[in-house]
Amino acid sequence: AQVQDLSSEKVHAAKDMAFVFDIDGVLVLGDELIPEGQRVLEILNGDNELGIKIPHIFLTNGSGKPEAARVAQLSKILQSPISTDQFIQSHTPMRALAEYYSTVLVVGGEGYRCREVAEEYGFKDIVVPNDIIAWDPTIAPYRVFTDEERATSRPRDFSKVNIECIMVFSDSRDYATDMQIIMDLLRSEDGRLHTVAKDPVSQRIPIYFSQGDLLCPTEHPTPRMSQGAFRIGLEAMYKAVTGEDLERVVYGKPELATYRYADEVITSWMEQIHNDEKLPKNVYMVGDNPASDIVGGNMYGWNTCLVRTGVYQGEGNDDENPASFGVFKNVLEAVQMACRKQL
Ligand code: G3P
Ligand code: MG
Repeated sequence: AQVQDLSSEKVHAAKDMAFVFDIDGVLVLGDELIPEGQRVLEILNGDNELGIKIPHIFLTNGSGKPEAARVAQLSKILQSPISTDQFIQSHTPMRALAEYYSTVLVVGGEGYRCREVAEEYGFKDIVVPNDIIAWDPTIAPYRVFTDEERATSRPRDFSKVNIECIMVFSDSRDYATDMQIIMDLLRSEDGRLHTVAKDPVSQRIPIYFSQGDLLCPTEHPTPRMSQGAFRIGLEAMYKAVTGEDLERVVYGKPELATYRYADEVITSWMEQIHNDEKLPKNVYMVGDNPASDIVGGNMYGWNTCLVRTGVYQGEGNDDENPASFGVFKNVLEAVQMACRKQL
């Protein structure tokens, strides 16, 4: 009977915990699997001493593909089923903006995939930089435009269109072109190209960025520049050219709005796993970037675990943003330690 009590106590404790995983630098590096990541998902999907599922969601600053496509790709790499209901990428919460803006410029990502993302989010009239170049190639003097790009773009007279806001969804594939077009729009009269506003501030359209990471871990030996670096460059250019500070909104970790959104996702995922729509008492976040995952998780009161498989490579805990639950060699060690503490 004692054994049974102990295990039911553990089941009870397991039902009051959840994990939040960062993806790049914790579970994968680009398209490469971090092997401990695969084992972690097996454990949480039921291959544990209690034989029960332990809820977990994925909270990534990654971007550039529709949620379903990214989830399919990750499931394949991690050899585990992943649902879009447990998955948040940097631009996922930006779907709420579709209620406020109709004609939008979407910047970043491969080919036309971010147009697809914006369509799924419900934006009605989506413009991407290539549509603008196809209309007026002189706008980006150094851009080489391929026939294929021309054939798939949607040019029209953008001097007659009011673009209502700019949304940087993903990493720019061409800083020179994207920065030029964004600068032109920010300086225009209410988002009409080929115009320059007399007052740079009152007629300026809003700009949103899906995340602010300076660096991103990839297959390359040292992390690569990410959207935060692009934004800082743009802000400096804007200030130098107009003398004004650029007001902007940033989504993604470590912004509060993203953690609030994550809470909603955890709550509804709890319903799917445990038939109990509530926020678990003990949330553990595993991340590799102190300036994004850890600082945000700490502010939000989560137990944060910093791993050394991505951006962070230091010895002890990070000085500026120490992880509250500690530093671990990899995600498996972090999850095992959290389970040992809770169960
Ligand atoms: O910094 C860009 C992005 O790829 C990072 O993703 O999963 O580490 O939040 P993640
Ligand atoms: Mg990461």
